[in-house]
Amino acid sequence: MSWLRDEVLRRADIVEVVSEYIPLKKRGSNYWALSPFKPERTPSFAVSPTKQIFKCFASGKGGDVIRFVMEMEGLSYGEALRKLAEKYGIAVPDTQEERYTSRERQRYLALYEAVVQFYQRRLTGSPAEAYLVRRGVTRESIERFRLGYAPPEGQALTEYLLRLGYEEETLVKWGVALRQEGTGRLYDRFRGRVIFPVIEEQGGVVALAGRLLADEADQPKYLNSPETPFYRKSEVLYGLWLARPVLRKEGAALIVEGYMDVISLHQAGFTQAVATCGTALTEEHLIRLRRYTREVVLLYDSDSAGQAAAERAIEPALRAGFFVRVAHVPEGKDPDAFLQEKGPEAFQEVLHNSLSWPLYLAQRVGPTPSPQERYTLLQKLGQGLQALPDPYLRRAYAEEIATSLHIPPEFWESFERIEAPPRSPEAVPPTRVTAERELLRVAFTYPEVDFGGLPLWAVLQEELKHLTFTQPEAEALRKAFCSWGENRPPSLQDLMEALLPEVQDWATGLLLERYTLSEHWRTWDDSPLVEDPVQIAESNLNLLHLAHVQHLLQENLRILETLLPETPSYEEHLVLHQVLLRQRAEIALRQGLILPYRQAEG
Ligand code: CTP
Ligand code: MN
Repeated sequence: MSWLRDEVLRRADIVEVVSEYIPLKKRGSNYWALSPFKPERTPSFAVSPTKQIFKCFASGKGGDVIRFVMEMEGLSYGEALRKLAEKYGIAVPDTQEERYTSRERQRYLALYEAVVQFYQRRLTGSPAEAYLVRRGVTRESIERFRLGYAPPEGQALTEYLLRLGYEEETLVKWGVALRQEGTGRLYDRFRGRVIFPVIEEQGGVVALAGRLLADEADQPKYLNSPETPFYRKSEVLYGLWLARPVLRKEGAALIVEGYMDVISLHQAGFTQAVATCGTALTEEHLIRLRRYTREVVLLYDSDSAGQAAAERAIEPALRAGFFVRVAHVPEGKDPDAFLQEKGPEAFQEVLHNSLSWPLYLAQRVGPTPSPQERYTLLQKLGQGLQALPDPYLRRAYAEEIATSLHIPPEFWESFERIEAPPRSPEAVPPTRVTAERELLRVAFTYPEVDFGGLPLWAVLQEELKHLTFTQPEAEALRKAFCSWGENRPPSLQDLMEALLPEVQDWATGLLLERYTLSEHWRTWDDSPLVEDPVQIAESNLNLLHLAHVQHLLQENLRILETLLPETPSYEEHLVLHQVLLRQRAEIALRQGLILPYRQAEG
């Protein structure tokens, strides 16, 4: 894939590609247009032909040409890559590795296909069939979800697969059979259970879940396949393969907890329902879902565990840029039980009564919250707003909160200015954040400038290896930059692939600064900014080193305070204190800083 990516980036011109979607105007060194992602009146969408990146200041999105096509067309990374390859006439030969994994994957899917067909055949006339009928599952649903039965004896499947020519190792490795401790004999993983195949978006079976027909002590109700290279629980949404077309057309995905919920909902015509496979809702789930829709309705079980899970799912969904609503089935029911008992109209009512997430949180607290409850609610609302990556969305929800909960939008304004929540509870001083940004900016903008006999990028790569950045996006980019193994400076494009979309947005913003826009906007001139990259690098490195030493000093002092002078390690810490003080003084001297008297004294 990487070869193809390089080839696509070499041949594709981002200006040319973007122009096919939106008209661009040249201003200064960059091209500008109205944002294709957000309605706006003044252009804030920039394309840099020299850096081959785009940045949309309205939506925050930014990246290389591949990301642009992904965003415009709602494609996955691979799909966008192939589309561009096709456009630029690049043949797509499989690499050795790709051919291997795709062959391996084919074999994996073929195995699971054989397994599912085997279990499907066993369903007819089985106790599992009777069980499903009893639970109101129709013949049609049984077919559509490819439900089956794993007989209780525990050898039938394994024997069948061995007869088909599968090797024992393969069956164990891919999770359909287990090896008995003493005898070393193989036996089936699933025994005496209803089988729910887990099917991925393209329709291939990647895993199984098996449900007991009746409660049994010390047996889990559901048993799931183990994770394999082709099945990751945190990525797969059960039912998405069927929900896909509806989601593209109609919007909101209905996220439920259970396999049976999905089946009942689809059966009743709510084909936008998907479920996580016994895990919490993750960022990976949401990234997949975002290709089809920007709206989710969380519909978890109405018990307190379910409601707590719903509440926990709100933040990741907001962070992924979704509009989030929460629906609630009355008393002690899960969606399946409710539907079977009350029917689709009543269920439609449940959806109709779903609440936007702020109102849901408020309703959980009740009409007359105590000050403590109100405090917690405010915090949760604030965290939700902060999680939203998009200032327009944040504003929209702040206004909803104002109207319905009587908290004025101004209340949140101090939070809105925070770009990304700092990772540690202690606030990050702005100078550090700026220093991190600046170091990365000069590394990518002036990689070849001489820095004491070496190119700037190489010096920074070495230096930054020993630091940890406080801002999450800066830290992600620092890591990617430092793990770049080639003997030339990486361009931002080179690292794009390794970065999450949020980090791409941040990184492109770094190189296409907004103030560049306003300056060019005013003067139309294209003169390079006058700045001294070496000086910028040096002073910001010093600043971070200083902060680091300062931190060590404080830690050491804290330890010293707890020790008695007669403790053996007291002396060591005292020496360390002196060493750190000297280091700090040296850095300060280089920086031309005068340290406050108290601090210099230690
Ligand atoms: N689950 C699991 N392993 C378990 C229990 C549950 O993986 N031992 C997952 C399954 O995906 C299940 C979901 O969590 O569908 C919800 O669990 P639960 O509410 O207990 O089951 P239901 O979906 O209501 O299943 P049923 O109606 O068949 O009892
Ligand atoms: Mn249930």
